[in-house]
Amino acid sequence: MTERLTPTDHGLARAAQILRTGGLVAFGTETVYGLGADATDSLAVARIFEAKGRPRFNPLISHFPDAEAAFTQVTADPRAQKLAERFWPGPLTLVLPRSPRGEICDLATAGLPTAAVRVPACESALALLRAVGRPIAAPSANPSGAVSPSTAAHVLNGLDGRIDAVLDSGPCPVGVESTVLDLSGKKPRLLRPGGVTVEDIEALIGPVERSAPLASATPVAPGMLSSHYAPTLPVRLNATSVEDGEALLAFGAPLAGSPLVWNLSERQALDEAAARLFAGLRHLDHEGARLGLRGIAVQPIPQQGLGAAIRDRLTRAAAPRPVTSPPSAQECPVA
Ligand code: TXA
Ligand code: MG
Repeated sequence: MTERLTPTDHGLARAAQILRTGGLVAFGTETVYGLGADATDSLAVARIFEAKGRPRFNPLISHFPDAEAAFTQVTADPRAQKLAERFWPGPLTLVLPRSPRGEICDLATAGLPTAAVRVPACESALALLRAVGRPIAAPSANPSGAVSPSTAAHVLNGLDGRIDAVLDSGPCPVGVESTVLDLSGKKPRLLRPGGVTVEDIEALIGPVERSAPLASATPVAPGMLSSHYAPTLPVRLNATSVEDGEALLAFGAPLAGSPLVWNLSERQALDEAAARLFAGLRHLDHEGARLGLRGIAVQPIPQQGLGAAIRDRLTRAAAPRPVTSPPSAQECPVA
């Protein structure tokens, strides 16, 4: 059952309680309805992908009640400070390096060394974010591949029964998603055009690269490049036995014979496996290299539900490496 809530004191308190206990709440923002989960809880974030039926783990935007809260999770440079002052609350998302003290989980950032943050311009959303007191990851609240929802009715059309609640704050005034601006490199780069124009951004911080303009339907971002996803150790999929010197990424009863094992889910639960995936790859890669192992064997993962996204991610990790990988891939070999 999906609860229908309105942004009264009671409705907001109930929505915050659901989010604080790992549930999913769709809520209105000025752009589109977001499907929210506690961004610090990887199991809650896994449920977002499950509810949307997303075939892959895209990095998600984390939402905050103000810039101060956002900038505890990422490292904000003067450009970010300026943009935040001018455009927040509002339809601008900033991609910045994750802060060492940040709590956003790896699944929410798709294992990237950066995180996307924004402060929405919508009173009920801000009240909710204040009440939760944690970063809230929220992609648009529609099944994967469907049109983004700008009313609570649109949300229920696609997700009724698949999410815990929808907080109905009326129609979204902007109706297109936020502009996504990557500030993690030297030059600011537009990843997705949206509610704030690039001209307005340039007026404030100077030239913005538009080399890879992205239609919102195209799930491409730096995070989607396979090289970002590659661990240093080679990855072997669908292993039915462990070869000499291999670490094991297990699913269910682990295969015998590996000196280093990370079990995605002993009980073969796909949401648990998704929640443990990025941490597992990181662990096996670092420990495996330290122990002088030569690869990572991965037990078969079923294709249905979240299994598709897990397999997509692992297929990327196992793909042949490009001859020259971008510097960011070397900075963060497993991400
Ligand atoms: O208006 C919006 O932004 C809505 C509302 C709910 O806030 N949210 C939204 O989220 O559109 P989503 O998940 O549909 O889009 C997130 C975008 C994707 O293009 C994703 O690739 C990019 O942000 N993104 C997120 N984190 C990133 C990162 N670390 N690096 C690069 N791109 C990132
Ligand atoms: Mg979307």
